[in-house]
Amino acid sequence: MTKEIIKIEDLKREFIMGTETVHALRGISFSIKEGEFVTIMGSSGSGKSTMLNILGCLDQPTSGIYEIDGVRVKDLSRNELATIRNEKIGFIFQSYNLLARTSALENVELPLLYNSKVSTQERRERAIKALDMVGLSDRMDHTPSQLSGGQQQRVAIARSLVNNPVMILADEATGNLDTRTSYEIMSLFQDLNKQGITITFVTHESDIAKFSNRTVVLKDGKIMQDYNNLNVQSAAEQLAKLPKQED
Ligand SMILES: Nc1ncnc2c1ncn2[C@@H]1O[C@H](COP(=O)(O)OP(=O)(O)O)[C@@H](O)[C@H]1O
Ligand SMILES: [Mg+2]
Repeated sequence: MTKEIIKIEDLKREFIMGTETVHALRGISFSIKEGEFVTIMGSSGSGKSTMLNILGCLDQPTSGIYEIDGVRVKDLSRNELATIRNEKIGFIFQSYNLLARTSALENVELPLLYNSKVSTQERRERAIKALDMVGLSDRMDHTPSQLSGGQQQRVAIARSLVNNPVMILADEATGNLDTRTSYEIMSLFQDLNKQGITITFVTHESDIAKFSNRTVVLKDGKIMQDYNNLNVQSAAEQLAKLPKQED
């Protein structure tokens, strides 16, 4: 049987805002198996980011169970949590979150700086390999302002890969990108998924969900639908069908 990487049961997250309680997640249960490519869909405010932050151990639920790789997150110490975050999970955000005056190579090396087991030389080699995987070998010395949005997102993806994570969590990773660039990024995610990396991809665009194997739809902090996509599209093929760009 395939291993469950993520298992949540009756997860709730409330935010107290003055005298008001915001119910961001109202009892969510599901699991994600190793090797899945899941999109979390839902309109703005439906609870997608709240859930992803909990899945990534950046936030704790108000109640409910969260197990990662069979381990209850609640039972982990601060150090154990930090290790899981650094070594098992790769994060990608809509706004790339790159350091501005720092080269692509150094941005990608960053997560390894906190890993004392990795030497300076190995750090460099792994960052170069990650940039190669996202097709940016020829842009390693560029700073973010010298790169397009799509290229900056590739650097962020390389940075998320450099620790060889078991899963990638992406929050609206194509939200700032045009259709062509979004499809390029989705094609990259499909390649990474084929290599065995589990991907959870938050989006509000149904167009993007067709590239994943499964879709979970959130509404008002609850799961409305959870289905396997019977007709997964290849992003590379869709990309080839787009009208040619004039340069
Ligand atoms: N830190 C917070 N404090 C208060 N309310 C929050 C916080 N984070 C999210 N919320 C509220 O929780 C709900 C879900 O937000 P969010 O998870 O960001 O939705 P989505 O990512 O789907 O747009 C919204 O009503 C939002 O205002
Ligand atoms: Mg969000």
